[in-house]
Amino acid sequence: MNKLERARKKINSVDKEIAKLWVERMEAVREVSEYKRENGLQVLDTSRESELMSRNLGYVPEELRSYYTEFLNGTLESSKRYQRELSVKSEDSLTVNLGDRSYDIIIRRGSLADAGKYMNLQRKVLVVTDDGVPAKYAEAVASQCLDASVVTLPQGEKTKCLESFSVLLKAMLQRGFTRKDCVVAVGGGVIGDLAGFAASAYMRGIDFYNIPTTTLSQIDSSIGGKVAIDLDGYKNTVGAFWQPKLVLIDPDTLSTLDRRQYASGLAEAVKMSLTSDRELFEIFESKDIDGRLDEIIRRSLMIKKRVVEQDERESGLRKILNFGHTIGHGIETAEEGRLMHGECVALGMLPMCGVQVRGRLRAVLEKLGLPTAITSPPDGIKAAMKHDKKSEQSRVTVVRVEEAGSFRLEVIDFDELFKRLDEYLTEAEQ
Ligand SMILES: NC(=O)c1ccc[n+]([C@@H]2O[C@H](COP(=O)([O-])OP(=O)(O)OC[C@H]3O[C@@H](n4cnc5c(N)ncnc54)[C@H](O)[C@@H]3O)[C@@H](O)[C@H]2O)c1
Repeated sequence: MNKLERARKKINSVDKEIAKLWVERMEAVREVSEYKRENGLQVLDTSRESELMSRNLGYVPEELRSYYTEFLNGTLESSKRYQRELSVKSEDSLTVNLGDRSYDIIIRRGSLADAGKYMNLQRKVLVVTDDGVPAKYAEAVASQCLDASVVTLPQGEKTKCLESFSVLLKAMLQRGFTRKDCVVAVGGGVIGDLAGFAASAYMRGIDFYNIPTTTLSQIDSSIGGKVAIDLDGYKNTVGAFWQPKLVLIDPDTLSTLDRRQYASGLAEAVKMSLTSDRELFEIFESKDIDGRLDEIIRRSLMIKKRVVEQDERESGLRKILNFGHTIGHGIETAEEGRLMHGECVALGMLPMCGVQVRGRLRAVLEKLGLPTAITSPPDGIKAAMKHDKKSEQSRVTVVRVEEAGSFRLEVIDFDELFKRLDEYLTEAEQ
């Protein structure tokens, strides 16, 4: 046997041992995750992870250390994924798979009272909420933290601004937050976007947990990692991609939400059903929508999760989430705040649907108490659409739905889009 053959044989036998040891390791990981599940402990422990990385480095010669670290990183990544799947895989959870930025979404009634089971709150925690969210929700979270500071901001879109951003950063600085501490948002999309952005920027990024409490944030804005504030009234101009460590959804919190807000948020779920999930659309057509809310949240999140996983930084597929938004934004601006965002999206979807789906959509919108007739002056809508920051070019990508559950992307001239809007408006009048 020559030198090469001997070395290869050695590699083969070491690989066999590694495979056996690896299986043993994964069995131990399974035991850990079972123990954690039974005892309600946190799924992943980041401090243990860095300890593991350094523990055995002494056995490894200097020149091999970077290779060993790479090897261990891979092992840790797969055991984290395995643990996550074993520990929280159940009807009431989903995982957003984004490599080392993956996270779980827990959807469970009453879970607010157990937030500490899912999140590491044994550190300094900035709990951010607004004065429209019942205070008991933020208090429930704060009571489970080792050292909580609750910041309550004024409700409304205006809070998503530089000043509030600075309030949050200063609150953390004054309370001596380090990179090991975290931010928890308890509220709708405004609080989620703002608190997430503060977490992304403080000391170049600290852990962020999101506890969404509106329909819109539970079905849509809390996942995907887009965090931002508005600047001089321009929406989401300054922001980042910063994924949360976990999203905790307690649908019971929606019981206190104003009915109009509730319906407006659900318009985004109707939107997702139309492009991607026929059965979800049929749920909206069924009698008892409220009774199937948890299913609606879960199915909508499945769609958004798939889009985010395939297109984290919004280059292509995420465009389907814009269904109804091009015209919707135009209506929103033309209405100068008289209509809510979801109500405008609802209206914006109608001209972009084939005739048959359009009839079905109208019935669903009516049932939800959403508007079904565009009453703003067409010129106002068109002017606003032209001013939209995403539509500087003369062409625009629009999403069209001919059949519930499927879509087509079309790149068309603005003039063509305006023509379609006019045709729709004329038809609707007849
Ligand atoms: N990051 C994303 O991917 C994404 C996606 C869509 C929208 N958004 C953003 O989300 C924001 C809108 O979010 P929103 O619709 O949740 O509005 P919001 O956060 O303003 O909440 C709406 C109102 O409901 C109140 N509220 C919240 N939870 C409540 C509860 N459980 N009971 C009673 N009242 C409650 C709030 O105080 C507020 O007055 C916008 O700023 C938008 O840009 C972000």
